[in-house]
Amino acid sequence: MTEDSVGNNMIACEYQPGLEGIPAAQSSISYVDGQKGILEYRGIRIEELASKSTFLEAAYLLIWGELPSKNELYEFQEEVRLHRRIKYSIRDMMKCFPETGHPMDALQASAAALGLFYSKRALDNPKYIREAVVRLLAKIPTMVAAFKQMRKGDDPVRPRDDLSYAANFLYMLNEQEPTPLEAHVFDVCLTLHAEHTINASTFSALVTASTLTDPYAVVASAVGTLAGPLHGGANEEVITMLETIGSVDNVHPYLEERLQRKERIMGCGHRVYKVKDPRATILQNLAEQLFKESGTDKYYEIALELEKAVEEKLGHKGIYPNVDFYSGLVYRKLGIPSDLFTPVFAIARVAGWLAHWKEQLAVNRIFRPTQVYTGTHDSPYIPIEAR
Ligand code: SDX
Repeated sequence: MTEDSVGNNMIACEYQPGLEGIPAAQSSISYVDGQKGILEYRGIRIEELASKSTFLEAAYLLIWGELPSKNELYEFQEEVRLHRRIKYSIRDMMKCFPETGHPMDALQASAAALGLFYSKRALDNPKYIREAVVRLLAKIPTMVAAFKQMRKGDDPVRPRDDLSYAANFLYMLNEQEPTPLEAHVFDVCLTLHAEHTINASTFSALVTASTLTDPYAVVASAVGTLAGPLHGGANEEVITMLETIGSVDNVHPYLEERLQRKERIMGCGHRVYKVKDPRATILQNLAEQLFKESGTDKYYEIALELEKAVEEKLGHKGIYPNVDFYSGLVYRKLGIPSDLFTPVFAIARVAGWLAHWKEQLAVNRIFRPTQVYTGTHDSPYIPIEAR
C-alpha cells in the first residue's frame, strides 16, 4: 500500500499508472465489455446503431439519454443545419494559421475561439446547454473542412443546407457531392467514433468540465488529447505504416522487425478490448462495401494480411485491431487526406465529449486526485555560488 497526505488525513491508495482499471466517473452513456468485444450506447449495441441509426440520432441518444421522436430528431437536425456556418472572424483567424500546421492544432485553436463568441457559461440553463451542443456539432465539421481549403490558399467551401450532415462535410472537403453510399458510409463512421466510455480525451473533457468552464474550452481540451498517436492520432499512423510495408509479402518481415525494436503496431491493441474491437469489424465491412463500388485498394490487402500476422504474433497478449486499424482505409476512399483522419475522429467524438460534459454537470465535483509523493522533505536551499 502507498500513502499520501491530504490535510491531516492519510489516504491509503493503490497507485495505478495511467489510472488503469480505476473508475474515474459513474456513467450511463456507454458500456464496453473488452473480453466479449461489446460496445453499447445507452444500452443499444453499436452494431444496431451502425445499421439502423444515423450519427445525429446517435448523438441525440448519447447526449439526452434516449432515442428522439420523429419531431425531436427533425428539430435537432434542423437546428444543427442552421448553425453550420462559422463567423468570418474565425475564418480570418484560420487564414493566419501556417499551411504546414497540423489540422488537429488548427481545430483545437478554432474550437477554443468559439468560446470567444458564445461562452456566457450559463451552465444551469438548459437552453444554453442545447445551444452549445448544437453549435459544436454543427461548426466543428465546417472548421475542419475550412482549414483544409485555406491551408492551400483557397476560400472555404460554404456549407450546403440541402445536404445531410455527413454528405455536407464531404462536400465542404472536396466541393463534390458524395455518392449516397459514400455519405452513408461516412455517417456510419461518425456513429462508430462518437463515444467510448472514459478514454483519454473524454477524461480530459471531464476534468475540464468539472471546473465549470465553458463547453468550448472542454472540447478544445479534449481535441488536444485526442491528437496524440497513442489515441486518436493512430488512424493517420496506420496508413503511414501500410504505405511503409508496401506489399503483402513485406508484412511478416516488417512486423518481425518492428516487434524486435519493441515498437507498437499502430491501430492494434487497446487498454480495454482484449479481442478485436467491434468497431474495427464494422469498419472492415464498410471498406469492403466501398471497394465494391469504387475498386479495391492494395493497402486493404496488406491490412488483411497484417491483421492475420498480428493475431498470430500478439493475439496471446490480447492485441487485435482497434477502431483505428481500418478507418483510414475508408477515409482515403472517401477522399479525406490522411492528416484529417484524426480531425474526423474529433468531429464524431464531440458527441461523446458533450454527453459526458452534460452528465458531469449534473453531479459535478471538481477533479482533484492525489499523488504518491516520491520526493524529499526539508531539503536545504543551496546558494548558487555553492552549486
Ligand atoms: C483509441 O481508450 C479508448 O477507448 C480509445 C479509443 C476510443 O474510442 O476513444 O478506443 C480510441 O485510442 C484506440 C487506440 C489507438 N492507438 C493505437 O492504435 C496505438 C497503438 N496501440 C498501443 O499504443 C496500445 O495498445 C494502447 C495505447 C492503445 C493501449 O496500451 P496499454 O493498454 O497501455 O498497453 P500496454 O502499454 O500496457 O502494453 C501491454 C503489452 C506491452 O507488452 P509487454 O511490455 O507487456 O511485453 O502489450 C504490448 C506492449 O508492448 N502492446 C503492443 C501494442 N499495444 C500494446 N505491442 C505491439 N503493438 C501494439 N499496438
